[in-house]
Amino acid sequence: MSNPSSIPTPRSTPSIRILAVLGSSKAAVQAALHGESRFSLESHVASQCTRLPWQAERQPDLVLLEPPTGEQDRLTVWLKELAVQCPQIPVLVIGELLSVSAVQALLTLRSTNMVPLPFCHKTFLDQISTVMRSESSTSTGAQCWSFMSAVGGAGATTLAIETALQLHTTSAMVKKIALIDLNFIDGACAAYLDVPANLRLGDVADDPDRIDEALIDAFASPHASGFDVLAAARNPLGFQDINAQSIGQLLDVCCTLYDHVIIDMSRWMQDWTMDVIGGSDALVLVSELTVPALHAARDLALNIEASVPHNANRLHLVLNRMSKRMFGHSISMVDAQKALGRKATGSISSDWDGAAQAVNYGLPIGQGTPKSKISKDVRALIDAIESNNCKGSAPASARMAS
Ligand SMILES: Nc1ncnc2c1ncn2[C@@H]1O[C@H](COP(=O)(O)OP(=O)(O)O)[C@@H](O)[C@H]1O
Ligand SMILES: [Mg+2]
Repeated sequence: MSNPSSIPTPRSTPSIRILAVLGSSKAAVQAALHGESRFSLESHVASQCTRLPWQAERQPDLVLLEPPTGEQDRLTVWLKELAVQCPQIPVLVIGELLSVSAVQALLTLRSTNMVPLPFCHKTFLDQISTVMRSESSTSTGAQCWSFMSAVGGAGATTLAIETALQLHTTSAMVKKIALIDLNFIDGACAAYLDVPANLRLGDVADDPDRIDEALIDAFASPHASGFDVLAAARNPLGFQDINAQSIGQLLDVCCTLYDHVIIDMSRWMQDWTMDVIGGSDALVLVSELTVPALHAARDLALNIEASVPHNANRLHLVLNRMSKRMFGHSISMVDAQKALGRKATGSISSDWDGAAQAVNYGLPIGQGTPKSKISKDVRALIDAIESNNCKGSAPASARMAS
């Protein structure tokens, strides 16, 4: 990683952060941006960057790439890294005559454009505006929400399924919704919903570019209640067959095909787990109401916030299986929040009959027992997350997959 040279902008100015890895056009780019106070440029020397000088906690709003002369392969490597790290960040490539592999890598990203040579200041600034505009118009698309349990059995799968159903049934417009089970060892979405487990991500893990609309169609199992389920068959070694690139590509393509992507995450951390969390518009951490579970939820939340700092306002703690009658050794909402060290976004009533009936019939709870309190509470949770997202939506560039 090279030492960056920076053109700082005043702190009070909201600026567009550009990460630039530049070859021969470095001086021209710096000259073009000089005096443009809306940009802050972090510039690196291309010949010193075999990998992208990427800092997860300092994601840029725009990436500018120019490989050293005659080193197109290096550009391909950078683009592939971007596809994994943050495929929706707008990318401008300076130069012409790209190799086939560079073009393929470019096409996996959401907003890209080329700046032709010889370098022209005006064209360059126009291209920045165009690529940033196209990014902001597409980033209002898919919403991606992830669910994770603080302890086994807390209810992440149940709540992810019910959220998919409620999003489908309560939306004024027809929305395409995907429920993706990323627990490749013993995910339960397919079993809970009685659909085939057709997600064979391991087959294409070495060539993630093969994951396209047609393949997602083959992976997806439509559920009668109106949303698609992408879930792999149980496999004790399931995580060994997949990698960050294939997960990134899967989610990226799904986010172009669906309006809403709900992810059931395993709480066993993989090398891509934090990327998925970082790319999610909401992470729902589900805890049950026992002291060990609450402490596990508190620790997990702190761990995630330390790893993905920009995600803090999108982390939602949810208390599941809340009992109405408070007696004996039950923990109240107030006590639970004390143990968590923060407020919970919502609580979900306990309804063992409704939950058991749903899984026994292969249905979301709201379909088997439409009046279940769980469905009502999940609707309230959806409202809370949506209003939080409207208030404090983070820059789209901080998202990986939506
Ligand atoms: N609010 C609830 N009330 C009653 N039972 C629930 C509730 N939420 C989940 N369950 C049940 O708890 C068990 C574990 O839920 P599950 O969603 O599989 O947990 P996880 O995915 O966190 O391991 C399942 O039998 C499910 O039906
Ligand atoms: Mg589960």
